[in-house]
Amino acid sequence: MQNNSNISDEKKRRRSFFLDEKLFEYILDHTSQPDETQQSLIETTSELGKVSAMQIAQDQGVFLYMLVAAIRPDFAVEIGTFTGYSSLAIAKALPENGKLLCCDVSEEWTSVANRYWEKAGVAEKIELVIAPAKETLANLPDNKKIDFAFIDADKGGYLEYYEEIVSRLSDHGLIAVDNVLWSGKVVDAEVSDDDTVSMRNFNDYVAQDERVSSVMLSIGDGLTLVKRTN
Ligand SMILES: C[S@@+](CC[C@H](N)C(=O)[O-])C[C@H]1O[C@@H](n2cnc3c(N)ncnc32)[C@H](O)[C@@H]1O
Repeated sequence: MQNNSNISDEKKRRRSFFLDEKLFEYILDHTSQPDETQQSLIETTSELGKVSAMQIAQDQGVFLYMLVAAIRPDFAVEIGTFTGYSSLAIAKALPENGKLLCCDVSEEWTSVANRYWEKAGVAEKIELVIAPAKETLANLPDNKKIDFAFIDADKGGYLEYYEEIVSRLSDHGLIAVDNVLWSGKVVDAEVSDDDTVSMRNFNDYVAQDERVSSVMLSIGDGLTLVKRTN
């Protein structure tokens, strides 16, 4: 297990909004650490300034790695790649012939991701499509099954991404959806901006969707896991 002291700045570790520093430290001390390439990517991304807050939490990356390693997807999809931290975690856990389709609209941010995929030796497993994710998903062949999906892009698009993915989800497939607690704003009646309303609507939709089982986890900014039941 690598030492946690390499990533000392709290911001770089993206502490969950409801955890105090001591408890978060304890969690990280008892969780596998990102490898050297991932740590370097966390550093590089933090140098981008405020936007670095879009990167998923360190422990969440390890959690994604675990999920993907257990599911062993032939085909995984990521909606929202940014500088590549979550995609690295997913790609590292793919089985030998597994592929990851990354969807993003930013050439600039994903150029960082591309660099780190090369460094980590997973570039050949990943196809990046720069276009609105809705188009990329709609362009998949009708019979293409998705075994794992991670949704972490524009909040207003979540419902459409979810619908496209649920209809293609394989029997053993899983969807992981990020930011479902939206810094706690989902339960704050005073907040009614577009993103918060989109997150609330999305969460309500999934909770009543009879095609699936779901669980909302309090990791990172909230992560919902979804599995088809019919
Ligand atoms: C929260 S960040 C993703 C963070 C990433 N998962 C990580 O762990 O580093 C959201 C990303 O979604 C992308 N995005 C925004 N709107 C999009 C759209 N309509 N289609 C695809 N990607 C989009 C942004 O360019 C940004 O890179």
